[in-house]
Amino acid sequence: MAILKIARMGHPVLAQKAQAVADPASLEIRRLVSDMIETMIDANGAGLAAPQVHVPLRVVVFQAPQGRSDPGLSDDERFDHMAPLTVLVNPQIEIVGDEIEGGWEGCLSVPGLRGFVERPFHIRYRGFDLEGRAVARSAKGFHARVVQHECDHLDGTLYPSRMRDLGKLIFESEARHFVQKEE
Ligand code: NI
Repeated sequence: MAILKIARMGHPVLAQKAQAVADPASLEIRRLVSDMIETMIDANGAGLAAPQVHVPLRVVVFQAPQGRSDPGLSDDERFDHMAPLTVLVNPQIEIVGDEIEGGWEGCLSVPGLRGFVERPFHIRYRGFDLEGRAVARSAKGFHARVVQHECDHLDGTLYPSRMRDLGKLIFESEARHFVQKEE
């Protein structure tokens, strides 16, 4: 295991389309994923995509813990809002319905900043795990957001280019002003 160097906005690896993985169960992918998880946890991120560690392959890791979902939800509703630590190889996303939700995002490749991004609220995603088995889930809220954010990295897209209002691209240290304003 190793903590990998994270590419920052401006590095070409973050702007290119990543390649599909031929064998999700290969030793090479297992090693990559193990290092990505260690790197994500060390950096206190909710997700990480392989291009962020300079590997242009279609691999993401993420988690959507309970604390990030809306506390007003019932247990049944909350199910789609949460995900354990998940590895997804060759992911695909399908948007469900036309509901859009705005939320604040950060990115380990855009350190120190936060941006308000509107994204589809409900998605379905599929891909493969490290045993080569198919994974398919429904996701809403923060869970849907983190998956869309990570999968954007595989197509060379960083969250600022998804923003409609760059007035809401702010330094983390100033985020409290916005939270107060919106409450
Ligand atoms: Ni990111």
